[in-house]
Formats: sequence, structure tokens, C-alpha cells
Amino acid sequence: MYNVTVPEHVPEELVRSFNVFEIPPTADIFAEISKLHETHPPIYYNSTPQLDRTFSRGAWQVTSMEYIQEIMRTPDDFSSVGISGFNELIQLGYELMIPVDTDPPVHGEVRGLIREQLQPNNVAKLADGIRELSQEVVQKCVAQGSSEFVKDVASIFPTQIFLLLMGMPMEEAEQFLEWEADLLQPDPNNIEKSRDAIRKIVARVQQGFEERRADPQDDFLTLLVNADLTEELRTGLGFNLFVGGLDTVMNQLTWVFKYIGERPELQQQLRGNPELIASSLEEIMRLHSVLTTRRFVTRDMNFQGVSFKKGDSVELLMAAGSLDGNAFENPHEADLERKPNRHMGFGWGPHMCIGMHLARLEMRILVEEWLQAIPQFSVVRPEELEFHVGIWGLNSLPLSWD
Ligand code: HEM
Repeated sequence: MYNVTVPEHVPEELVRSFNVFEIPPTADIFAEISKLHETHPPIYYNSTPQLDRTFSRGAWQVTSMEYIQEIMRTPDDFSSVGISGFNELIQLGYELMIPVDTDPPVHGEVRGLIREQLQPNNVAKLADGIRELSQEVVQKCVAQGSSEFVKDVASIFPTQIFLLLMGMPMEEAEQFLEWEADLLQPDPNNIEKSRDAIRKIVARVQQGFEERRADPQDDFLTLLVNADLTEELRTGLGFNLFVGGLDTVMNQLTWVFKYIGERPELQQQLRGNPELIASSLEEIMRLHSVLTTRRFVTRDMNFQGVSFKKGDSVELLMAAGSLDGNAFENPHEADLERKPNRHMGFGWGPHMCIGMHLARLEMRILVEEWLQAIPQFSVVRPEELEFHVGIWGLNSLPLSWD
């Protein structure tokens, strides 16, 4: 699958393999990533990297939390332009993940347009709608008497919340889910499927803008239509909100419910002390940070003793950063009240997840509603669970209860 030539400036001793496509799907992916702290230097060159969608270029990979943070807060040296790879994939001619794919000053300007709406006080206004949607999905599971959590809850719930936020009809959830799957869990043998999904999402977002121009509402689509932006940036912002808010929450939820499902005593503790749910979620996110991102080096430089060349790709393994023993005491132990808990699950620096307050609210409300409605539950055959590459998540998560 990979066809990579290691560039001349990379010293042989820093070329290390870590091919995520070769890890058996039933393995504990976070344990595999965590092992990198013992087996690999904190910065190494991988000729089988994770994020290059062409499978033809190697990349540096960074596992140290300190280095990841340094890179993420230095956009002058480490650019975000094009990091999503979507533009390259579809040859669109402009970046699609806005603001992810941008640097200052454009980044600050675009991010500023949606920042206020995603602050905790504004996000809290969605709480009732989110609780209603949570109750609906949970009640469906109650009626069934068991659940395949990915299908019944994790996929549909954040999709509905995205539609709620944007002001799009709930009936479109299934369609969005289909595009989402083709886009973010790429099949290296069928890149055309991802391309097609991108084109369809872009077309749907642009159609939404047209609808709001004719008939403005109190929603995100209208906010984007009224924003002082080029049409390309506007489309990219809509696309980023879609992609950024769906697969992330969906996959994060699979680890949250696996973790809680495997621990009856934790379920009991959280039922008795629901105020512990928020900090428990942070710790579960630290133990399972789902996103890997990257930056492109802007000039030849020496970074922490390693020679980077302009144009090099640097992949930042959030999961490794969150499990770094130099940053967290007893990194593999769950401390549900860990303070501070500055994990890497939502990133760091100027691009830190702008949807994090919404994501936290969604996950907290769902856990609250689930624990209230469903008795002690467990994971069915946990040894058979399979993870997928992309944003780390479980393909399915069967849950049962009496
Ligand atoms: C548990 C769920 C989530 C996780 C783990 C997550 C993770 C992340 C991470 C790590 C980044 C930084 C990427 C980088 O620096 O390259 C990011 C950025 C972003 N996220 Fe999230 N995210 C989540 C939920 C959401 C939600 C619900 C939304 C939608 C409102 C959202 C929208 C965004 C956007 C627009 C950015 C780009 C911010 C910027 O470039 O300034 N995310 N997310």
C-alpha cells in the first residue's frame, strides 16, 4: 500500500516503523500507541505514516506531549494550511476544512466569527434539545433490551446534534452518516468513494446557504450566510463544522461507553454522584484521545535536536501525548478527579477544538440519561471488539443488561 522514499535529510537511526494498518483490529490501540514511549524516540520518521492519503510520503511522528504542544502553538514554524488533505484529495483548488486548514491571520478572523456562538453560555442554550435527543436514543435502546451502541447511539446522536446546530432537517441524519463513513474511515483501495462523499457534502452545505439566503433563521447556517467571508471560506467553515463535530464525538463515545460498560462499580459510583461524570469524561478522553493531526514545516530548522526541512509533514499523536509519563503522573491509571487534566484530546494552542464545550455537553447529557434509564450494563464479548484507523473508534460496541 505504501510507496515511500525516505528523504536524504532523515538520519537512518530516526527511521522507525509504526504502521497502524498492520495492527490487529482486536488489539488495544491505545496500549500500542503508549508503547511508542518505550520503543521509539519522541520524534521519529515513519515511512508508513497515518495521515497521508496518497500513501506516497513519509512523515515525522511526535509522541511527547511537551513537543506536541510546542509545535501546536508555533504556527509560524508549523503550518496548518492543507493539513486535512481534503483539497489535495479532490483537487478542489481551495482548502476545505476551515479554520483547521488555515494559519494566521486568516485563522483568527474566521475562528472569531463562530467563537462566541460556541462559548459555554451559548452552547448551554442547546442543552434542552440535546437532552431530548438523548432521551429518544436511550429510550429506543430500553425498548430493544440491548444495544449495538455504535449503530443505535454513537453515530446517530452527534449527527442529529449537528443538524440541530446548523438548522437542517433531522430526516437527513442517515444521509449525512453515510457520507461521513466514506469520508473519514478511508479505504485505501477506494479513494474515489471519499472524493465522492466530499463533493456531496460540499453541495449540501452550499444548498443550505441558498436556502437561508432566501429564508433566514436563528441557526448556524444563517450565521455563516451573514458572515463577512468569501464563498470558499464559508463553504469550508460549514464543511469543518460537519466533519469536526460528527466523527469525533461518535468515536469518543465508543471508548466512553466501553470504559464505563466494563466497570460496574464505576456505573454505580456515577449513578450515585452524577457530578463526577464531567471529570470522569475528561479522564476517559485522556486515556483515549481519538484524533491524530499534523502540521507542515515552514522553514529548514532544528527542532529538539532533529533536522526538519521545509515541507516536511509532522504528525502529532494526541493519544501518545495524553499518555505521556513525563506529563501525567501514573499515565495509565484512571484518576477520575485528576486535576489539572490538560489532556490532548481537544488539541492545544490556537486551533484547540472550538466545539469542545458542545462536545462535553453532548457526552455528559448522554451519559446522565443512559445511567438513569438503563440498569447495570456490560460489554458483550469485549475481546472481539475491533477498532478502526482514522479517528480512533470501535467498529461496533454491543452492550447488554438484564
Ligand atoms: C469529543 C469530541 C471532539 C474531539 C475529540 C475533537 C478534537 C479536536 C481537535 C484535537 C482539534 C484540533 C485539531 C488541530 O489542531 O489540528 C479540533 C479542532 C476543531 N474542532 Fe473539534 N473535537 C470534538 C468535537 C467537536 C465538535 C462537537 C465540533 C463542532 C462544533 C468541533 C469542531 C472543531 C473545529 C471547527 C475545529 C477547528 C478549530 C480551529 O482550527 O481553530 N469539534 N477538534
